Amino acid sequence: MPKIKSVNHVAVVVDDMQKSLAFWRDALGIELHELRDVPAENSQVAFLPIAGAEVELVLPTTDDSGIAKYLAKRGPGMHHICLEVDDIAGMMSHLKLKGIRLINEQPRTGADGKQYAFIHPESTGGVLVELYQI
Ligand code: CO
Repeated sequence: MPKIKSVNHVAVVVDDMQKSLAFWRDALGIELHELRDVPAENSQVAFLPIAGAEVELVLPTTDDSGIAKYLAKRGPGMHHICLEVDDIAGMMSHLKLKGIRLINEQPRTGADGKQYAFIHPESTGGVLVELYQI
């Protein structure tokens, strides 16, 4: 059976990247590893690694993406938790068999080559969960 290996990152949706970095980077002192635009996801993303995991700050760059709508509806705050799995396709079929609702039917591949997919909060007790295979 496919296995969860670690918490890869925790993602926070933000409405002001510099203001958020003033807390996470400057006040908490977590090093900013990377700040980049992700046009495929209509967002700008900051990665702040902490001992094998990361805090990921996500700023929507358009008004009509899923994450922009989420921000408009709920305001800034926790967005998702990402779990690393050893076999994402296997885990997705396993979850489907258990009646868990998935947002992505197939794993998607990011610009960095990682495979990812989201599980619907309806099946998780209200938490958006991302799966990653590196
Ligand atoms: Co993520």
